[in-house]
Amino acid sequence: MILLGLNIDHCATIRQARYRQVVSGAEPAVEPDPVALARLAESAGADGITVHLREDRRHIIDRDVRRLREAEGTRLNLEMACTEEMTAFAQEIRPNSVCLVPENREEVTTEGGLDVVGQRERVARIVDAMGEIGVKVSLFIDPDEPQVAMAAELGAPWVELHTGSWANAYYTDHRAKEFVRLVRGAEQAHAAGLVVNAGHGINYENVFEIRTLPHLHECNIGHSIISRAVFHGIEEAVSEMRRLLNASG
Ligand code: PXP
Repeated sequence: MILLGLNIDHCATIRQARYRQVVSGAEPAVEPDPVALARLAESAGADGITVHLREDRRHIIDRDVRRLREAEGTRLNLEMACTEEMTAFAQEIRPNSVCLVPENREEVTTEGGLDVVGQRERVARIVDAMGEIGVKVSLFIDPDEPQVAMAAELGAPWVELHTGSWANAYYTDHRAKEFVRLVRGAEQAHAAGLVVNAGHGINYENVFEIRTLPHLHECNIGHSIISRAVFHGIEEAVSEMRRLLNASG
C-alpha cells in the first residue's frame, strides 16, 4: 500500500491571493481554509497532511500549522528550511514529522533536493534536535548516490526522493534516464535502512510510473490534487489519486 501525503500549501496560496493583509486568518470571510480542506481530504483517504511554512509566509502561515497540530487525528508533516527559526518552531509545535527542504526566496516552488553533503553539520544538528523530542525527520534529496549515503549516515529515518527532474522530463527523451536514477536512489536508500518517500511534480498521469518505484512508502503530492479539486472537489481528487497510487496494471 503506497500512502498519500497531501500537500495543502496551494489552498493557502488561493487564500493569500486575496487575504494576505489579514494574516491572523481568523476573520469569518477569509477563505478557503486549509484546515477545513485537510479535514475533507482525510475523510477521503489522505494518509497525512503536509505544509511548507516558508520564510516569507507566502501561503501557509503559523496559525495554520498550529490549528493543524491541534486537530485530532491529523498526521502532520512540516516541510521546513534548515534554519534556527524553523527548528525552534518545530520544537514548539512538535509535528509528527518534519521534512527538511532547501529554500530560496526567489523560487516559485522548491527547485531541487537539499544538499545534505554540503550542509552536513547544519542538517545533523536538526536531525539530532528533532530526535530528542521524538519528531521523525525526512530529508528531501535528489536521488544521487552521495546524497543518499549521507542521509543514511545522518541517521534520519526517512528520505523523500525529489521527483521533480523526472516529472519535468516525463514527456522528453530523458524520462527513462531520470526514472532509472530514482530507482537506483530508492534501492540504495532501502538497502541502507531508510524509508523511501517521493514527491514533487507527481500528477494523475505520471503516477502510473512513480507507483512502480521500488520500496515506495509514501508520495507527497500537492499541486495536481489541489488543481483537480477546483473542478471535482477535494474528496474526489484525493480518493482518485489514492486509488491510482495503488492500482495495478
Ligand atoms: N515534497 C516536497 C518536499 C515539496 O517541496 C513539494 C512542493 O511543495 C511537494 C512534495 C509537492 O510537490 P507538488 O506540489 O508538485 O505535488
